[in-house]
Formats: sequence, structure tokens, C-alpha cells
Amino acid sequence: MSDDGPMYAQREEAGEAGTPEQGAATGAETPPTHHARRITSFRSRRSTLSGGQQQTWERLWPQIGTEARNAEGHPVVLDPERWFGRQAPLILEIGCGTGVSTSAMAQSEPDLDVIAVEVYKKGLGQLLGVIDRDGIPNIRLVRGDGVDVLEHSLPSASLTGVRVFFPDPWPKARHHKRRLFQTETMALIADRLKPGGILHAATDHQGYAEHIAEVGDAEPRLRRVDTDQQLPISVARPETKYERKALAGPIVTELLWERR
Ligand SMILES: C[S@@+](CC[C@H](N)C(=O)[O-])C[C@H]1O[C@@H](n2cnc3c(N)ncnc32)[C@H](O)[C@@H]1O
Repeated sequence: MSDDGPMYAQREEAGEAGTPEQGAATGAETPPTHHARRITSFRSRRSTLSGGQQQTWERLWPQIGTEARNAEGHPVVLDPERWFGRQAPLILEIGCGTGVSTSAMAQSEPDLDVIAVEVYKKGLGQLLGVIDRDGIPNIRLVRGDGVDVLEHSLPSASLTGVRVFFPDPWPKARHHKRRLFQTETMALIADRLKPGGILHAATDHQGYAEHIAEVGDAEPRLRRVDTDQQLPISVARPETKYERKALAGPIVTELLWERR
């Protein structure tokens, strides 16, 4: 894949309501190329699951994981109540990486349900291993583009929280268009959050922090809040490898907005 990203074709919208098409793992190292977005915030990365990870994947993915798109390229519309087997406030984490924050935060907030989206299969494989080992009941996994999931898999006012920790900063000016946070993404997040719901972003890249602040503050449905306020979801992140790198260098900026 070129550095400028794939030029994905537009595709029709469909999907079966309430049936995350579980077990759709293809073994391919990149998600199916059916994204509406012409430019994506992620790169293609080759990754191979270890033997143990593969076994866990085959056992658990059909139950708690789904591709964002089915084999025909249609978006899978999620039915969280059915998938989790309960009604609970829902959090969407975009770009969970290996899921260090995801698993720790889900365990500390058992009354919330977390859908973690990632394109990187090995990262999801690692998170699946931790879910299995620790018996974490309140995480479900989606493999694909988090913006695609926001746009096509979840309805308006369905989320109590959106978390994006250390999104790729795409530091070169010619790559800024690849950043996850854009005016359109902020509008989409604002629409999918319930009133009072929280967007929590963290980055160690000063320039990207300024950009996220600018596009977030410009979204009229979002109001900036502070970490020390009473919020419906925890904003206490565990330290990840990105955090450790950041502590050795630049400062981590936490950015929080509440849906009006
Ligand atoms: C720098 S890593 C941070 C991982 C994790 N949040 C952490 O704090 O350790 C960024 C991750 O976001 C993922 N990513 C980037 N754009 C994405 C998108 N549109 N949808 C899903 N995942 C995405 C990448 O694959 C990568 O694993």
C-alpha cells in the first residue's frame, strides 16, 4: 500500500441490523478494503498471530469479535445490547492497539460496556488473550476502521464515551489529511454521543494536540470539560508504552469534551 493510502471505492450501504457478523475473520492482515473514506488514518501492517493467539482467536472471535464489514463489504450494524447480553452505558475506543488501556479500564468499570476497534490484527489478538486470561466480560472487538464503525455501525446518541488514546499524529504537513481527528470526525463523534457523553483523547504530539483542540472546540455540540470534573466515565488511563515514551519526552495532553 502506498504511503498516501488506498483510494477506496465508494460502496453501497447495507448490513443486517442486530447481527454482528461474527466469525468473519479472514486471516488477512489488513481489513477488507471497502472503506468509504478515501484516506485512512492507519497504515497497512503485516502481523502474524502466534500459535496460542491463533487458537484463542478461533475460539473467541466468533463470540466477541466481528469485522466492521461483512464478506460482501457491507457495514455490520452492531446491536450492543444483544452482543453484550445486557443494557449498559457504551464506550467506543478507536485504535486500541494491543488493548492495554482497554482491558484495564474495562476491568475498573464493570458497569460499562466497551467496544474496541482496531485494524491491527495482532493487537486485537493480544487483547483477546488478556480478555480470555482475566475473564473480562465487558469488551467486544471490531476489526476495521473506527470512523467507518462510527459512521455505519452505530446510531446517533448511542455512546456514553468515545476514547482515542495516542492516535497516530501523522506529523508531516502533507500527511495531516490522514489524521483521525478532522472536522468531520468531530461532527460524527458529537452525533453518536448521548447528551452528557464524553470524548476523551490523549496525545503526546503537541501539534496534533493543538489540531484536536481546534477541531473539537469548533464543534458546536461539544463543550470542553476538565479531568477533575465529575464525569460519567473514568478518564484515568493506565500507562501504555506510548505514555512511557511520552514521559521520557513530550508532555501528554488530555482533551475532554462533553456532548451538550
Ligand atoms: C499509536 S497507536 C496507539 C494504540 C493505543 N491506543 C495505545 O495507547 O497504546 C495508534 C493505533 O490506532 C490504530 N488506528 C489508526 N487509525 C485507526 C482507525 N481509523 N480505526 C481503527 N484503528 C486505527 C493503529 O492501527 C494503531 O494501532
